Amino acid sequence: MTTDLDQLRTDLLASIDAAGSLDALDAVRVHALGKQGAVTGLLKTLGAMSPEERQATGPRIHSLREAVTEAIAARKATMERDALDARLAGETLDMTLPVDLPATGGVHPVSQVMDELAEIFADLGFAVATGPEIEDDWHNFSALNIPETHPARAMHDTFYVEPNTTDREIVDKWWNGPNMVLRTHTSPVQIRAMKAAGGTKPVRIIAPGRTYRSDSDATHTPMFHQVEGLVIDKGITMGHLKWTLETFLKAFFERDDIVLRLRPSYFPFTEPSAEVDVGFSIVNGKRVIGGAEGWMEVLGSGMVHRKVIAAGGYDPDEWQGFAFGCGIDRLAMLKYGMDDLRAFFDGDLRWLKHYGFGALDVPTLSGGVGA
Ligand code: PHE
Repeated sequence: MTTDLDQLRTDLLASIDAAGSLDALDAVRVHALGKQGAVTGLLKTLGAMSPEERQATGPRIHSLREAVTEAIAARKATMERDALDARLAGETLDMTLPVDLPATGGVHPVSQVMDELAEIFADLGFAVATGPEIEDDWHNFSALNIPETHPARAMHDTFYVEPNTTDREIVDKWWNGPNMVLRTHTSPVQIRAMKAAGGTKPVRIIAPGRTYRSDSDATHTPMFHQVEGLVIDKGITMGHLKWTLETFLKAFFERDDIVLRLRPSYFPFTEPSAEVDVGFSIVNGKRVIGGAEGWMEVLGSGMVHRKVIAAGGYDPDEWQGFAFGCGIDRLAMLKYGMDDLRAFFDGDLRWLKHYGFGALDVPTLSGGVGA
């Protein structure tokens, strides 16, 4: 009996070790522990034994059953882990391999034009500044010499923003005052940029971004884009303004023969003020830059008003400056021959595919800003 049990244990453990698959292992289990199994058979013999015999042999049979059960479980766990390891090794992806699918998605013409503007003005020494789209009344109007009673406030078709709570404590803590607006132009960034420079250093910035007016037709959308330009320094004249605008528009349209028209105008925050039109011709029903068949107004500009220089924290007896504000969407339409402003914001993929720019085509002065 002793040798039989020992031999059986050795044999069973060896077959468990040798089992090459989960099926083979299960066959060994059935062979040992199944209803007709060898170990089960031994357990059945216990009933017929004398008490002494049972006391001597019983624990050995039980220990055999336990050893076999454990060995099967351990072997099963090893096999499962090996299978998982093999699968993980087989499914490895080399993330460093180049993907040979064509890049999908593209750059919206407005984003492209903003990049072009940043590139052109960086070359002229301008930094990019930003400000909030939900702006307070003071920055959007008062500091720009548009007092509360000024008709320009009505002209701007302003969207007013109200707190969505009447809780006094929250309103006092989080709300700057009763009049918050969606900024109607990027000009409030003039004030923010001057304040940030502290009244002692020259300022040279552009500020591209979203602006809002309650207006909608083929040439106006409630949300549109502007870029603001501001230079504050000593001895700044209208000549600097004109040269900067000419240099900018020639670089932007990538041609020297564009025709600019400066018209005297009025803005509360500049004095004197000028509006700038770019001449275009109609070729195959599309507007093309150059010639003077029609004029498209692209920007407003002027010498920064003394009151605005003072509101920005500068002494207007010492510092002068010029500023301009330019519709980015209009610039894009003119440069890339699009005719309905509303299509810019429809999110129609066919339009974007037609007019959009490759994700990797970054504008540079050497490669062409519109390349
Ligand atoms: N903020 C003006 C507008 O939105 C444009 C402008 C900016 C004019 C700066 C002069 C100077 O129409």
